[in-house]
Amino acid sequence: MKLRSAQWYAGQDRNAYIHRAWMRRGVPDDAFTGRPQIAIANTASDLTPCNAHLNEVAASVRNGVYEAGGIPLDLPVVSLGETNVRPTAMLWRNMAAMATEEMLRANPVDGVVLLGGCDKTIPSLLMAAASVDLPAVVVPGGPMLNGSFRGKSLGCGTDVWRLSEEVRGGTLSQADFTSSESAMIRSRGHCNTMGTASTMALVAEALGTVVPGVAGTPAPDSRLLQAAHETGRLAVEMVGADRRPGTFLTKASFHNAIVALAAVGGSTNAVVHLLAIAGRLGVDLCLDHFDRIGSRVPVLVDLQPAGRFLMEDFHRAGGLLAVLHEVRDLLDPDALTVTGRPLVEHLDGAAVWDADVIRPREQPLVAEGGIAVLRGNLAPDGALIKPAAASPHLLEHRGRAAVFDSIEDFHARIDDPDLEVDADSVLVLRGCGPKGYPGMPEVSNMPLPKKLLEQGVRDMVRICDGRMSGTAYGTVVLHVAPEAAAGGPLALVRTGDIVSLDVKARRIDVDVPADELARRTPNKSTLDGFANPKRGWERLYVDHVQQAHTGADLDFLVGSSGSGVSRESH
Ligand code: FES
Repeated sequence: MKLRSAQWYAGQDRNAYIHRAWMRRGVPDDAFTGRPQIAIANTASDLTPCNAHLNEVAASVRNGVYEAGGIPLDLPVVSLGETNVRPTAMLWRNMAAMATEEMLRANPVDGVVLLGGCDKTIPSLLMAAASVDLPAVVVPGGPMLNGSFRGKSLGCGTDVWRLSEEVRGGTLSQADFTSSESAMIRSRGHCNTMGTASTMALVAEALGTVVPGVAGTPAPDSRLLQAAHETGRLAVEMVGADRRPGTFLTKASFHNAIVALAAVGGSTNAVVHLLAIAGRLGVDLCLDHFDRIGSRVPVLVDLQPAGRFLMEDFHRAGGLLAVLHEVRDLLDPDALTVTGRPLVEHLDGAAVWDADVIRPREQPLVAEGGIAVLRGNLAPDGALIKPAAASPHLLEHRGRAAVFDSIEDFHARIDDPDLEVDADSVLVLRGCGPKGYPGMPEVSNMPLPKKLLEQGVRDMVRICDGRMSGTAYGTVVLHVAPEAAAGGPLALVRTGDIVSLDVKARRIDVDVPADELARRTPNKSTLDGFANPKRGWERLYVDHVQQAHTGADLDFLVGSSGSGVSRESH
């Protein structure tokens, strides 16, 4: 087997001497001859609490790599903690992907095990792996255990939104809200709802990049370390088989990922991440595939935010393989996985052990799930809505727009008793797209006006060019493209305009004649709401980021450069 790392280590010249000598660290001589060098791209960080345990997972991967004859190499990579990173972790997803891609390419690496968990970490790792196209396999860090507060389970994120609205609505005291805090996050791991982290771990498995059956294993579960050990062995095998993302990730793989996304009732964020990963691979994937493939798939998983249970329950009930077993006929049988075998072959023997958590096909949580793609004069390039997380009575709705030019404008005015808004109003928030914020934050599920909460209103139609936390719920139209800051018509809507939403017809429109809309220009306060960074990554990002409907990647990062490096460092 001719290894890529031999370009650094083979031979007797001065450069091979330098590459070997500094890497000896006590390893045997044969470490540099014919043994695959496996990087462990590790997003462990104390500032990414969901991934803080990944050093222990990495140790198990190392054991597996050694056992199979490879050489494990720790490679700490950029980590993004969803709850901490400002202005939004999404601003840094492409930077993390670019840095990981370049470090894999720059170093004597033959294959890589990718350790991620919190929302942006698995997407950025997969984007990097696709562009460097080395054998790569993901170990998802796993969800935390169920939270529990006063006899009721507490789901990360989802219950924060719910309880905070209860406080604002006057039905929960501030003291009770605060005391729920320590009950919510009670173990290592990422959010335990079907938020973005859980979704991306499951979608990565359906895509074929995780050993089937591993995603969703709770972070404290010893079976995660066992899986990490076995994945270390597999990474060595993958190098021998030259099993690279470019060799087995195809349109069929993305088809299966979309089926899984719909069946588990996953986060809308998966759309923008899958589009970006497909873009790196040159796979022809667009927004309409999500609607076309996903909307005939039943939601089978009764997890928050759409349902009741949490990821620990999901794993106990059979996990992703049990779900996919139920919808096996909707999967593409040709799509392969990191094991070299088709995904569907791994479904034999999978079973549902708790039909309350994972519903049988005949009794779905929602008959037709998925993510609906809307178009209209408010979103010519598309917008998303997750019907399963929306209120059925609002899926066809007309109401007067209440427009906010930025999230700061929103916070300043939303609880103003004089704000012209009623239960039928449509809240419009702009300036939150990839360029406008910048970074496309999770603000689309904007809180409702306090005066309406006090009247008992719990959902309204909301429209935004940003994203929404995967743990959130509500009738939210999001990822509007083009965004307002890129010249999208969302910049032209005025308070009082009638906005109509028709999910069945897949339409989102403002009732303003085309000629009048064409005459309008964004007013100064709208333009002031858009970001204009002076330097650094934010400047590069704003100049090059693409719109949500293509994955919000940077234009020059789309595609793959492979793993070749032609020039020596000395
Ligand atoms: Fe990390 Fe939710 S904050 S997964």
